[in-house]
Amino acid sequence: MSIRLEDKYARAFFTPAELAAFDKEVKEADELLRSGKGPGSDFLGWIKLPKNYDKEEFARIQAAAKKIQKKAQALIVIGIGGSYLGARAVIEFLKSNNYNSLKKNTPDVYFAGNIISADATRELFELCEGKDICVNVISKSGTTTEPAVAFRIFRDYLEKKYGEEEAKERIFVTTDRARGTLKQFSTEKGYETFVVPDDVGGRFSVLSAVGLLPIAVAGIDIVKLMEGAASASEEFKNPDLSKNDCYRYAAIRNLLYRKGKTLEVLASYEPFTAMFSEWWKQLYGESEGKDQKGIFPASVIFSTDLHSLGQFIQDGTRNLFETVLDLEDTGCSFPIPADAANVDGLNFLSGMDMNKVKKTAMEGTILAHVDGGVPNLVVKISERNEFVLGELLYFFELSCAISGYLLGVNPFNQPGVESYKKNMFALLGKPGYEDLRADLEARLKN
Ligand code: PA5
Repeated sequence: MSIRLEDKYARAFFTPAELAAFDKEVKEADELLRSGKGPGSDFLGWIKLPKNYDKEEFARIQAAAKKIQKKAQALIVIGIGGSYLGARAVIEFLKSNNYNSLKKNTPDVYFAGNIISADATRELFELCEGKDICVNVISKSGTTTEPAVAFRIFRDYLEKKYGEEEAKERIFVTTDRARGTLKQFSTEKGYETFVVPDDVGGRFSVLSAVGLLPIAVAGIDIVKLMEGAASASEEFKNPDLSKNDCYRYAAIRNLLYRKGKTLEVLASYEPFTAMFSEWWKQLYGESEGKDQKGIFPASVIFSTDLHSLGQFIQDGTRNLFETVLDLEDTGCSFPIPADAANVDGLNFLSGMDMNKVKKTAMEGTILAHVDGGVPNLVVKISERNEFVLGELLYFFELSCAISGYLLGVNPFNQPGVESYKKNMFALLGKPGYEDLRADLEARLKN
């Protein structure tokens, strides 16, 4: 297996008996999840998605990706939360966090509709100037304000630039199979549409059309990504804690949480994982943070953050634990040059590969943080490729679901997000929200 959990740097913080006591709870959580009897059971489609996906639609995704690659130098992906983070995480993890600046034969991929900013919108148009563009708008509900506004802006731009008929060939919509304004509108306009399955929530949807179309446009092998996830779905089936690293991760998180470790920091040493961490934060934060419970997910990129948040991790409030992503082989190396004069005194590093220095920095940091009272878990990732990333995505989705059940929450809803959407609709004057609007406006005035 390419994904393994190493817990030796956390063991000083709990006893083997305390972890073993989770065995029964984990088996119950697994039973709830697999039987579909737990809370949120209408949203379990992601469990079987890596094998049971719609093959006809998958072929259409691949064909649409080729069409976009031919037609456009830039794809604008419009979506927010679970409707964009997975795609961006995968593209950056496998290609680069500087993907758009690379020399490549695939289109740039820009993300819009996840922020409300005139400046960012203006800048995006400048970045796309002179480029042919296509748009993939992604919204399960079809009513989320941020992507809806961005789509209106880009649709207007495309129709003016290319005319209605050609714009139609450049707009791809990923939304609910049958319901919602966006679906209705797309049918009327004749846009090609892809489906967010009913039983797959946004943050669990990266392996549906939501993630797969932009990922394929960036030239990433989505067959291998699905194969990796399918392999993980087999590997992590056994509910026995001692044989399932994915479930052990869920159990140890909850064990530490019950001991007062209410904040988890995902640490990585590679900048191309930064958006993966954003995806992970949304997955865990939105799934677990409810009913006044949950572990707050944060992230750092080292060494950068060793000179920033590193101080807090080492020495601040002792309510946190760390999960380190250890990418064992990125497929790249870079030797440190020799210098006969040794003016910088660094000749002890001459000829050493940057990967070796990175590994040493990681080991030294883990030991220092453990000494500072921070339990460390290490998720070992053997390689940087599609198959292994598919496994990793599934590893975290499944452990998140089990962890949510151990915590006693419904990991598949997001009532908090809905509350803000409602307030925003009301304050913006959406019909039907008049009473709420009056109430909110009165509160803002006082
Ligand atoms: O994970 C989730 O369900 C959310 O983050 C949604 O993805 C997000 O709110 C966007 O919703 P929609 O796709 O309906 O626009």
